[in-house]
Amino acid sequence: MVENNSEVPVVAIDGPSGAGKGAVSARVARELGWHLLDSGAVYRAVALAALAADVNPEDQAGLVGLCDRLPLSFRPGDDGIEVYLDQQPVGSRLRSEQVSAMASRVAALPAVRKALLELQRSFRQSPGLVADGRDMGTVVFPDATAKVFLHASVEERANRRYKQLKGKGENVTFSRLFQDLEARDRRDRERAVSPTIAAADAKVIDSTDLGLDQVVAQVLSVVEYRLQDT
Ligand code: DC
Repeated sequence: MVENNSEVPVVAIDGPSGAGKGAVSARVARELGWHLLDSGAVYRAVALAALAADVNPEDQAGLVGLCDRLPLSFRPGDDGIEVYLDQQPVGSRLRSEQVSAMASRVAALPAVRKALLELQRSFRQSPGLVADGRDMGTVVFPDATAKVFLHASVEERANRRYKQLKGKGENVTFSRLFQDLEARDRRDRERAVSPTIAAADAKVIDSTDLGLDQVVAQVLSVVEYRLQDT
């Protein structure tokens, strides 16, 4: 039987870097028993593939070619979902500074975003999907059942990142992280295509003073309310 995917419920969780979308989305997907799409990992995988194939970030046609035959898969791993390229786990390379910088460049290209739309939409499978990103509720799944825009103050997000990186023994300063986050926020918010903005019908949640459990509970109550409504 061919499933009519537009009937499958989607929870779109958008917001800036460091607001806790990844952890919240993974927990919400687990609680609901739904699939999970980490769309940032899709852009990161394109960046990694481009670096490996020596495709220049200005070469839109080359990047679109990569997107069209991206050998990407997600499989359950020890730390949640593991990303595979060419059947090989990519591990921590996906989150390296080099890949982050390349991902933010490729994500700004309209042709790349367009080429990745169908791949992202293919994750909409029964019984439901939790989609984590920047434009899930505005562009990729505008008909999502529930939309959440998760944000937190720049100070709090820089602080979380600082603790995380210090915990890994990395040599970072708070002021540098703060400045980088502010610059990245501005670039994401002001880019012409799919900027990071809340959908008009999104529930905005400020996680600055909330713990993970509290945010997850709020998201689940939005989902429950919207599901009753459909
Ligand atoms: O969420 P993240 O840091 O893994 O995202 C990696 C990059 O991809 C980042 O520069 C933002 C961009 N991105 C995007 O433009 N649209 C999405 N839906 C998800 C991520």
